[in-house]
Amino acid sequence: MENKIKRTRPLQVIILAAGKGTRMFSKKPKVLHELAGKTLLRHVVDSATSMQADSITIVFGHGGNEVQQSIGNTTVNWCEQKEQLGTGHAVQQAINTISDSADVLILYGDVPLLKAETLEKLILAKKEGSLALLTACLENPSGYGRIVRNKHSTIEKIIEEKDANDKIKLISEINSGVMVVRGDKLKFWLSKIGNNNAQNEYYLTDLVELAVTEGEIVDSYILDDHKQIEGINNKLQLADLEREHQRRQAKKLMLKGVTLRDPERFDLRGELSIGQDVVIDINVIIEGSCHIGNNVSIGANTILKDVNIADNVTILENCILEKSTIEQACTIGPFARLRPETQLDKNVKVGNFVEIKKSHIAQGSKINHLSYIGDTQMGQDVNIGAGTITCNYDGAYKHLTRIGDNAFIGSNTALVAPIEIGSWATIGAGSTLSKDAEAEKLTFTRATQKSLSGWQRPSKK
Ligand code: UD1
Ligand code: CA
Repeated sequence: MENKIKRTRPLQVIILAAGKGTRMFSKKPKVLHELAGKTLLRHVVDSATSMQADSITIVFGHGGNEVQQSIGNTTVNWCEQKEQLGTGHAVQQAINTISDSADVLILYGDVPLLKAETLEKLILAKKEGSLALLTACLENPSGYGRIVRNKHSTIEKIIEEKDANDKIKLISEINSGVMVVRGDKLKFWLSKIGNNNAQNEYYLTDLVELAVTEGEIVDSYILDDHKQIEGINNKLQLADLEREHQRRQAKKLMLKGVTLRDPERFDLRGELSIGQDVVIDINVIIEGSCHIGNNVSIGANTILKDVNIADNVTILENCILEKSTIEQACTIGPFARLRPETQLDKNVKVGNFVEIKKSHIAQGSKINHLSYIGDTQMGQDVNIGAGTITCNYDGAYKHLTRIGDNAFIGSNTALVAPIEIGSWATIGAGSTLSKDAEAEKLTFTRATQKSLSGWQRPSKK
C-alpha cells in the first residue's frame, strides 16, 4: 500500500462519461473501448485511484449497465445524465456527492493518457485560489475552447470554438477540459450557468468568467505533453493513442535496460516487472501481470499472459504462454503452447508443437516435439518422445497421468489416463497404454509386424 498523500483538502473526482461516441460507429459505449487491454474509463479511474481520491463519481449516459459492470469492485458513485445538455449539466448531476471543503477534480472518461502526476501539479497550481485549469498551447487549436487572458496574462474566460470570432480563434492556448475547483464554489457557480450560446449547452467552462467576475484569480497549469490531454472520438485517434502509450511504455523499459528489437512492434497490455539483460524480439505481446527474470530472451511473435518467468529462460518464436510458471533455464518453443496452471521446473525443455495444460513438469524433463500433455504430474529427467499424447479426457471427466523420474516414453505413445508410469520405466514407441507401467521395465503394446510376399500394389489400368 502506498503512503497516504498529504492534502490540505479532501480530493473528490468527477469523471464525465455520458457522451455517446457516435464517431466510433460501435454499439459499445465510447469509454468501454480498450487501450492497452484496459477500457478508456478504467485508465481514468485508475489514475484517480492512484491519487487516493476520497471519492470518484462517474457521470454516465449511454450503456449504463455495461459501463457500471466494467468498473467491477472499485468503489465509485454513479450519476446518470439522461440527456447530454453539456459539460456543466453533466457535472451538475454529480453535485450531491460533493462536499464544500473538497477540491473537485473534473476529468473526462475518454482521455486515457493523463497522468496522476500531471493532475497533482494542477492541484498545486490552484494554490490558495478556487479554480485552476489544465491548458496547453497547440499549433492547431481548432475544435477546442480557447483560453482568453488579459494583458497581465491573467485568465479572463474560455470561449468555445463555436462561439469564437476569428480573433479568438487565433489564440493557441486551449482548454483541456480538466479542471480543479473548490466544492462550495463549484456548487455556487454551477447554479448560475445558463445555456445561451451557440450550442444551447450548459458549458462548464462558463465557471471561469463567473469566478473572474467575483474577483477570483483563475490559475492554470500549462502542459507541454499534449498527448496526455487528447481525447478519443474515433478509431483513428484510438489507434494513435494506443501506439503513443506503447511507445512510452517501451521507452521506459528500454531506459531500464531491456532490449527491444523494435519498440514500434512491442505491446504491453498490463503490468510487467522485468530483470536485467532481457531481449525481446518483435511482435511480442505481454498481457495481464507478468514477471520476467534476468537473462531471458523472448522470440518473435510470442504472447505472454499472466506468466512468471525465472532467470536464464529462452523462449523461442511463436509461443503462447498463459497463467504458467517457468523456472530457471527452461527452453520453450518455437511454436509451443502452455495453457493455464502449467509449471515447468528448472531446465525443462519444451519443443515445437507441444501443448501443455494444468501440468507440473519436474526439472530436466524434455518434451521436444508434437505432444499433448494435460493433467499430468511428471517427474525429473523424463524423456517424452515425439507424438506422445496424454489421453486425459474420457468424454465426461478429466483424469490424471503420473510419470515417474527418468521414465522414457517412446514416440507416438498414447497414455490413457488415469495412468501411472513408474520411474525408469521405458515405453516402446507406438504403444497405447491403458494400464499402469511398472518402474524400471520395458512396457509396450504393439501389433506384430508382417510382410506379405506376392502382394501387388494397385495400379491404374
Ligand atoms: C469541451 C470543453 C472545451 C475543451 C474540450 C476539450 C466545454 C463547454 N467545452 O468541449 O473547452 O476544449 O472539451 O476536449 O466544456 N460530456 C458529458 N455530458 C455532456 C457533454 C459532455 O458527459 O452533456 C462528456 C463527454 O462524454 C466527454 C467530455 O464530457 O468525455 C467532453 O465533452 P465534449 O462534447 O467532447 O466537449 P467539447 O465540446 O469537445
Ligand atoms: Ca471533445
